[in-house]
Amino acid sequence: MSSHTLRVSDTAEALTGDAAARIVKCARDAIAGRGTFHWALSGGGTPRALFMLLAMPEWAGRVDWKRTHVWWSDERYVPPTHSESNYRMAYETLLSKVPIPEANVHRVGTELGAEEAAAEYETQIRLQVPGVGHAFDLVLLGMGEDGHTASLFPGSLDDIPAERLVYAHWIPRVQAKRITFTPTLINAAATVMFIVTGAAKADILCRVLCGPRDPDQLPAQLVERAEWWLDAAAAAGLTR
Ligand code: 6PG
Repeated sequence: MSSHTLRVSDTAEALTGDAAARIVKCARDAIAGRGTFHWALSGGGTPRALFMLLAMPEWAGRVDWKRTHVWWSDERYVPPTHSESNYRMAYETLLSKVPIPEANVHRVGTELGAEEAAAEYETQIRLQVPGVGHAFDLVLLGMGEDGHTASLFPGSLDDIPAERLVYAHWIPRVQAKRITFTPTLINAAATVMFIVTGAAKADILCRVLCGPRDPDQLPAQLVERAEWWLDAAAAAGLTR
């Protein structure tokens, strides 16, 4: 049974604040409940504003960074210094500005071979993220205009073994290797937050949330339960 809730903010800027407040609550609940907050960050461009806001003193002070562990729900197979690196974006906008212990920042080891990096990341998750299915407290996701999420792209899903938590694969659509959380790991999470903004995503959002089920072509439909944090522009198709 899938369960999706929508939260629509008037503007992308308002959404950033609303999503930041939700993340702070996730962190507090997780730390109160099990002493740590395991948070998988998304990549791409949308989370930049959110990370920059969370880095500001009036927000950063609301998170117990010493008990927070950050991971990545997907990563491009590039060095951590590369302009395409999701780790680099998060480090520059947030992680370099808050008192999170270095040992709590779990970067995908893209200096390894891609398959080895995925296997090692999965090993670390199995060792360090407690609970049934190694459930993250929060998995943050974006969605592309083609309905992809994390690095689960249309037409590139049939080789992912169900038992895997992290997987490396070549994505023809972007002509690049990616390392990604699998649907198994995403769906084990206590909370999944999609953050989607902009008119360009209104149609695909409608197809994913309201259209026929076609997860091979709309991989965001593989996520069984999520909070969708949207601005009005992205949600326009849903109100039509
Ligand atoms: C990545 C992401 C990817 C992203 C979507 C949306 O590594 O690119 O994890 O899944 O979330 O492509 O990207 P934007 O936020 O830039 O639209």
